[in-house]
Amino acid sequence: MIAAAPQDIAASIGMTASDFGRIARSVQGEFGIFLPEVKKDLVYSRLLRRVRNLRLPDFSAYCDLIESPAGTAERTEMLSALTTNVTNFFRESHHFDLLRSRILPPLLQAASKGARVRLWSAGCSSGQEPYSIAFTLLSLMPKAALHDIRILATDVDPRVIARAQDGIYPITDRDTIPEPMRSQFTESGPDGLKIGNAARGLVTFATLNLMDDWPMRGSFDVIFCRNVAIYFDVATQERLWRRFVGAMRPGSHLLIGQSERITGPREAKLENVGTTAYRLAPAGAGGSSPPTQERSPT
Ligand SMILES: C[S@@+](CC[C@H](N)C(=O)[O-])C[C@H]1O[C@@H](n2cnc3c(N)ncnc32)[C@H](O)[C@@H]1O
Repeated sequence: MIAAAPQDIAASIGMTASDFGRIARSVQGEFGIFLPEVKKDLVYSRLLRRVRNLRLPDFSAYCDLIESPAGTAERTEMLSALTTNVTNFFRESHHFDLLRSRILPPLLQAASKGARVRLWSAGCSSGQEPYSIAFTLLSLMPKAALHDIRILATDVDPRVIARAQDGIYPITDRDTIPEPMRSQFTESGPDGLKIGNAARGLVTFATLNLMDDWPMRGSFDVIFCRNVAIYFDVATQERLWRRFVGAMRPGSHLLIGQSERITGPREAKLENVGTTAYRLAPAGAGGSSPPTQERSPT
């Protein structure tokens, strides 16, 4: 008897419409990620390896696993398989220009007088985004560590958070960091490009599913949430915009990805101040409010 080749076994594992529906409901229910029918082939190809690695007979058994309490770890594996973690240093660089020229100067001036300043990179993937924020901030205020300034960086995927905490990237990434920030805030060595201590010291990484409760206390001065909401359906996006507005200080900024749009009732509260850059109306008429003195663990 001739043994079946692995690819034949793989080909024999089919995914029914019902399996796809169960996977889509699970992913949307827990992570907010919307999987339309047209993604069926993509879901199949990304999850087939999981079914095989777990030695399950078919996708129906896989669905049983992810729907059970014992499937918590596998739901995280599924999420990693289905989402794209693509990111770069200084991606969509116009936001960093805006940060340097208009958003940070008043915040850093307030920080130098004792105010609390909080920035959040929500859906930070492997950390290039929050480190780019840190480099920009340090280029304006090299001694930022002496003040009450923090960057919170979160992602639902614990693996990318672990990579971000390592702060080591392929050496080829060095060209994506403009000078003099590259020389000032990173080191190139045999392991790759290493984020320097000044930038690392400003950023706190944590795993956080944006669909869950947010444990942070205190409001934010800047929120980056770029190329994350694109995975959600419109109702979920609008809920997210509402929650961000609730977590933002008056006069603060929200920066989203280039293919994302703010829609729904929160649109009225957020003034467009640049390409995919929004500012929450300041409290009262005219001018931005000074940052609050309230402290938070973030
Ligand atoms: C394409 S990356 C974007 C990274 C970075 N913000 C950028 O623009 O370069 C999208 C990230 O969103 C994260 N993500 C997807 N759903 C999420 C959720 N429900 N809560 C938090 N992060 C989520 C993914 O894990 C992934 O790392």
